[in-house]
Amino acid sequence: MSVPPGGRVWRVGVAGLGNVGAGVLGFLAERPDFAPAGGRVVVSGVSARSRSRPRPVNISGLAWFDDPVALAASPDTDIFVELVGGSDGPAKAAVEAALKAGKPVVTANKALIAEHGAELAALAEEQGVPLLFEAAVMGGTPAVKMLREAMVGDEVRSVAGILNGTCNYILTEMQNKGGAFADVLAEAQRLGYAEADPIMDVGGFDAAHKITILAALAFGCAPNYAAAEIEGIEQVALVDIQLAKDLGYRIKLVASADRTEDGVLVRVHPTLVPLDHPLALAGGALNALFIEGTRIGRIFIQGPGAGSGPTAAAVAADIADVMAGAVRPVFQAPARALSPFTPVDPARSIGRAYLRFLVRDEPGVIAAVSETLAEAGVSIESFLQKPVEDAAGVPIVLTTHSVAESVLKAAIDRIAELPAVIDRPRLLRIARI
Ligand SMILES: NC(=O)c1ccc[n+]([C@@H]2O[C@H](COP(=O)([O-])OP(=O)(O)OC[C@H]3O[C@@H](n4cnc5c(N)ncnc54)[C@H](OP(=O)(O)O)[C@@H]3O)[C@@H](O)[C@H]2O)c1
Repeated sequence: MSVPPGGRVWRVGVAGLGNVGAGVLGFLAERPDFAPAGGRVVVSGVSARSRSRPRPVNISGLAWFDDPVALAASPDTDIFVELVGGSDGPAKAAVEAALKAGKPVVTANKALIAEHGAELAALAEEQGVPLLFEAAVMGGTPAVKMLREAMVGDEVRSVAGILNGTCNYILTEMQNKGGAFADVLAEAQRLGYAEADPIMDVGGFDAAHKITILAALAFGCAPNYAAAEIEGIEQVALVDIQLAKDLGYRIKLVASADRTEDGVLVRVHPTLVPLDHPLALAGGALNALFIEGTRIGRIFIQGPGAGSGPTAAAVAADIADVMAGAVRPVFQAPARALSPFTPVDPARSIGRAYLRFLVRDEPGVIAAVSETLAEAGVSIESFLQKPVEDAAGVPIVLTTHSVAESVLKAAIDRIAELPAVIDRPRLLRIARI
């Protein structure tokens, strides 16, 4: 192709015309020559499920492909942009087809990268083409480039943050309005903040995909989604939010990845964060992330983690990188040199905890609980008994000093068997960040 005045024309094929796809088309229609290195973008073809569905952008003049794989492999596609979603199926098939045809790929698909990132990176590097996914984590807030590029002069020890805006919105609403999880979720669905099927978000799986990707970028290891320990927010009770506040904490869904001498620990949990901590202050649908490097120390970023505009901006930034000819390994190191991801058994992790028990209102219960914990080797840091009106029993809450999770869980098993304890104790972790 001869290069016209003003630089090369890049023909971009966009598969997926939903929230993100429509945002990308809108952006490219408005600013086809946005790339700092010069050149211009034209959309050479689009693909989605339904050709006739009304969309916020006009696609009538664009070549239509029923099959995203055909769009990916089309000789008219210079850059393939995958915005279909899903770890397998058409998204994976189309990305593979594009890479095999030697075309650069830009995707926002965290499930695909978290679950198949290592093999796709190997394919991209074999073909010598970029596979970029800035939009996959924290939407428009640049976390991927920061870890992959700006942090290569450091050794990252840990990353931890709030990576799912839907969960953050629900927890913030529960806390501010005093609503129960199910009611707040229903309202979030009505307002469009939560999907009709919310399990990927509220179950913690979306955050786990994202932290898996960040772990791979931060530690130079292959992404290993299967090793992530995942707990969502479905079981977060309003009473825990209120009691945590009395103890000086806010409950957040925290996704974390730590590098230890034994390997890598990737977890997603509802977590108590001190009220004045930056993560506690990131409310609503915001995302926020701490990165801790050996030399740089701590970095904190915060911003939108989703939405058509912010996510399209991240996709556009990746398209600009392709246009600038940037060549880098897909993760922090070439795919063949990624270290194996050795998972650490979460039972060995050490941290402070919050425990809530529902007990019968009778003398000696607190002493029995304290003794059981002491015998198991768990040391109590603080104790709170609230006069809560509950016919079923009285909640007692305590926080522990640092303890191995295996020891804590064994102690909880023993407490659950005490005659005065009505329910299995509720365990929440307290942030180490
Ligand atoms: N939404 C966000 O704010 C956000 C933020 C960061 C990352 N992401 C990621 O971006 C990707 C897209 O998300 P989204 O919110 O835009 O999803 P979405 O609104 O559900 O859109 C998905 C698009 O894919 C199309 N599609 C589904 N199956 C297809 C198939 N078999 N063949 C061709 N097209 C198919 C759909 O077609 P129809 O329109 O015809 O149904 C739709 O246009 C996902 O990987 C998501 O995780 C989203």
